[in-house]
Amino acid sequence: MDAFGAVIFARALTVGLRRGMFESVAGRPLALEELSRETGLSPDGIRLLADACVAGGYLKCRKGKYRASAEAKKWLVKDSGTYLGDLIYYFDSLNTRLAGLDYSLEHGKPREPYYASFTDSEWETYVRGMANLARLLMPDVIRRIRLPAGGGRILDLGGSHGLYSLECCRRFPECTAVVMDFAPALRWAAAMNTGEPGTRVSLSAGDILTAPLPAGQDAVFMFNILHGFDEETNRKLIARASGALRRGGSMYILDQMTGTGQRSLLSRFMPLMVGLNLMNEIGGNAYSVPLIREWCAEAATFRVMPLRFPGVTMIQATNWRGRGKAQSPGA
Ligand SMILES: C[S@@+](CC[C@H](N)C(=O)[O-])C[C@H]1O[C@@H](n2cnc3c(N)ncnc32)[C@H](O)[C@@H]1O
Repeated sequence: MDAFGAVIFARALTVGLRRGMFESVAGRPLALEELSRETGLSPDGIRLLADACVAGGYLKCRKGKYRASAEAKKWLVKDSGTYLGDLIYYFDSLNTRLAGLDYSLEHGKPREPYYASFTDSEWETYVRGMANLARLLMPDVIRRIRLPAGGGRILDLGGSHGLYSLECCRRFPECTAVVMDFAPALRWAAAMNTGEPGTRVSLSAGDILTAPLPAGQDAVFMFNILHGFDEETNRKLIARASGALRRGGSMYILDQMTGTGQRSLLSRFMPLMVGLNLMNEIGGNAYSVPLIREWCAEAATFRVMPLRFPGVTMIQATNWRGRGKAQSPGA
């Protein structure tokens, strides 16, 4: 069962999204002929797709008419605040690369690293997908970040869309942030209004492994970054991040981590799926909390905070005990 349905259903959902099927039936129930016209799918095609979505819980069917379920309205309809369609498009792009998994697991990395071959539209899919996920995690993440009263300086390494930095600056009137990422990612961040004058967020194009990092930071974010690198690179990256902090400043690491002590099947399963995917994409992996603690050996305090989303954990590592009062932007 695991081997058959998962990828097929994922791709079917993607077709439904691309054809606007969930929007079509979000407001009113439609018969298959109408849905066929609206989506441009053949009568047999739409019947299969719609019935698969009924069985999967995303559509309801009553007296031959189909409508979006509550789940679909929450996750798959564009004007929902919790829309995840862009993330699903990104997952679909990952699925197309899975033919190389065998090679990647044999060699510990893919035949070709994936950013190098990204087109501009693939960068857009990537940045928008990550932005969907960030919006989902935002409330849980933001309340765990401690900044000095008024704000402070944030360096958001591999920050992509920059939404976490934007939110901190929105909540703290004196907060400023620099989002560092590859130039094509930042082009799409800018298209989503990150870095607009007045947001106090600036976009800095550069390689986070080699570019000089601005010093004296109150917080350095590494959100969904470590899983993309090997152990040696992560050790060096954490040393660089730690060198960019002021006394008492903190590194915040967010990732799918193993070894968190969480018991649920999903919390143990999801980080490993992320690890398999990342090894296939870029030679990355899923790392354990004890290993990350080792990389942060200089830290005086190390707080581990599992989030509500299965498998996602946040770590705060502070180099020296801070002076003065820190305040949460979520407060
Ligand atoms: C998985 S995304 C995470 C985005 C964001 N931090 C979040 O959590 O939503 C990883 C980001 O790191 C960036 N990245 C990876 N390696 C990088 C490098 N060597 N230099 C700069 N950016 C890098 C990618 O372009 C991508 O935007």
